[in-house]
Amino acid sequence: MRPPSPGSLGLVSDQPAPASTALPTPNYFELLGGEDAFRLLVDEFYAGVATDPVMRPMYPEEDLGPANERLRLFLIQYWGGPTTYSQERGHPRLRMRHAPFVIGAVERDAWLRHMRHAVDVLELTPELDKMLWDYLERAAFFMVNAEH
Ligand code: HEM
Repeated sequence: MRPPSPGSLGLVSDQPAPASTALPTPNYFELLGGEDAFRLLVDEFYAGVATDPVMRPMYPEEDLGPANERLRLFLIQYWGGPTTYSQERGHPRLRMRHAPFVIGAVERDAWLRHMRHAVDVLELTPELDKMLWDYLERAAFFMVNAEH
């Protein structure tokens, strides 16, 4: 099973995905558990971030609620659910949006550690778990912008 938009990770390109002539693809958003699953995933992730001495200071806002919502809406959109993220925030351009933050191996690995725990909580089938995790891992490596 393949994620919906390999290549650019859905994070940088201004180009829409090419129109597909293939068979209809499954709705990954629903397969992964829909709105409830993404809410649980991101809540678990931010519960970890909230107590993390590396990550918590990186978040500019005192309240992690708005950051939680942005990540949840982005992931929902990426996996084929409602496109509320782009209606509210425009094109993701996530590497650019992360440019103000110093993201080296330490920050990347902290992000991935909390996300790994959050994915575990979803108890997906091995195939879906691997699909989601491969994407998150690639996206996190792609976000690194510092060598420190
Ligand atoms: C690699 C380590 C990463 C670190 C340290 C990190 C850190 C941050 C920080 C500090 C913010 C600002 C919080 C806010 O106000 O929204 C942010 C925003 C965001 N991050 Fe990350 N991030 C990482 C990776 C990722 C990855 C892999 C994704 C997607 C798969 C992602 C998706 C987002 C989204 C959607 C936003 C909100 C963008 C917006 O609309 O303004 N981040 N991240």
